[in-house]
Amino acid sequence: VTDRVALVTGASRGIGREIVYQLIRDGFSMTVSSRNQSDLENVAESIRVEGQRIARMAADLSAEEDVSALADFHLRHFDRLDMLVLCAGVGSAGSLDTYPIRKFDKQYVVNVRSVLLLIQRLLPLMRSTAELEPDLGVRVVALSSMAGVIAESDLSAYGASKAALISLCQSISVEEGLHGVLATAISPGYVDTDMSNWIKDRIGAASMIRPSDIATLVSAISRLSRNAVVPNIVVTRPGESLWRA
Ligand SMILES: NC(=O)c1ccc[n+]([C@@H]2O[C@H](COP(=O)([O-])OP(=O)(O)OC[C@H]3O[C@@H](n4cnc5c(N)ncnc54)[C@H](OP(=O)(O)O)[C@@H]3O)[C@@H](O)[C@H]2O)c1
Repeated sequence: VTDRVALVTGASRGIGREIVYQLIRDGFSMTVSSRNQSDLENVAESIRVEGQRIARMAADLSAEEDVSALADFHLRHFDRLDMLVLCAGVGSAGSLDTYPIRKFDKQYVVNVRSVLLLIQRLLPLMRSTAELEPDLGVRVVALSSMAGVIAESDLSAYGASKAALISLCQSISVEEGLHGVLATAISPGYVDTDMSNWIKDRIGAASMIRPSDIATLVSAISRLSRNAVVPNIVVTRPGESLWRA
């Protein structure tokens, strides 16, 4: 057990839940969040902790007041933040010519806007934590996507939101890196979670990237010195092209 603290959004399922399991094994205490409180209780109850604390709060990140409330909740429960892990995300597929703009807006609000809002609220705490950690500093890790790196048919809105997220991570490192706050986007192809169910008749779940692969990367990032800036990690699947989801 360390005295290091994380906040993980999208923690109830999929990649986020796997990252929670990994960071608990690494000794972190944390705040976990998603929209459904009982899912968070189930996650917390399924983990064996060695004295760490897991504070859980339901928040809908498409609502600005929930984003603020989540930041306030973390500030009430912990006096530091070493790892901000942003896994909450939504996506839907559809061709560009008729894609409903309200769906674009929803993805942008959850995948990008809430991230900037949350970071703004938590930056004072991250900066003060970085002062306490002259070697490691503080990390923001955001789940982007291969669709944010290279365009793919029918993923225009999702891809645009994830490209914006990669850019936002770069800006965090550029503006806050000298304070010891560094951001990394992780941009995987298809990962075997609920989110990729829609394509599993074409791409088998067994051939997809595993949530534990992403959790392993997050764990590695948490151990890097603050001298190592990692803007974006692209994770692809075996096959003839490296540049496709
Ligand atoms: N699976 C893939 O193939 C893949 C590939 C590349 C990138 N990603 C990205 O990786 C991240 C995690 O994806 P996943 O595959 O683990 O997806 P998932 O299994 O669908 O989980 C999504 C998580 O986000 C939460 N969430 C969704 N909408 C939310 C909202 N409005 N407010 C707060 N929380 C919300 C969900 O919890 P509730 O529904 O309970 O709120 C859940 O915990 C996402 O950002 C996704 O875009 C996934």
